[in-house]
Amino acid sequence: MSDVVKLHYDVDGDNFMAAGEASSTVKNVLKRLGFGEDLVRRAAICLYEGEINMVIHANGGTIDVSVSPQTIEMVLQDQGGGIPDIEQAMQEGFSTASDRVRDLGFGAGMGLPNMRRYADSLEISSEPGQGTRVTMTLNIAPA
Ligand SMILES: Nc1ncnc2c1ncn2[C@@H]1O[C@H](COP(=O)(O)OP(=O)(O)O)[C@@H](O)[C@H]1O
Ligand SMILES: [Mg+2]
Repeated sequence: MSDVVKLHYDVDGDNFMAAGEASSTVKNVLKRLGFGEDLVRRAAICLYEGEINMVIHANGGTIDVSVSPQTIEMVLQDQGGGIPDIEQAMQEGFSTASDRVRDLGFGAGMGLPNMRRYADSLEISSEPGQGTRVTMTLNIAPA
């Protein structure tokens, strides 16, 4: 069946005022579409973490969300420096965030672990110097 809803956002790099806006908009849309609290919360956490990562690590990027009857799929694409060692980046507490970014309250190294925890599937492909693509899917439980 075709997708019901498609959303697209451009995320600015290094703009901490706007960081999290796209994920909060998507959260409201999913709520309005009538999805359960737990699913909406999980989707919002995953998207927020991915969005913040593009802001602080990749100089921004794009977010595409497709809601089909079966799944919520979220694709985050950037043209930042990439992740040289994805396995290392996935470890709890691992962060390359600068002191400035940490002073702003980011960089705890829990973003990717939380994305893995709350998404039903998480795929990361990254090319150092080219960028990173993160695809997260949440399954919509049949009513
Ligand atoms: N989109 C991205 N582009 C480049 N590096 C990234 C990206 N997302 C994550 N990373 C790398 O993976 C590390 C771990 O990410 P994460 O678990 O979200 O922790 P944090 O963002 O707090 O540093 C980051 O510190 C960074 O080195
Ligand atoms: Mg992060």
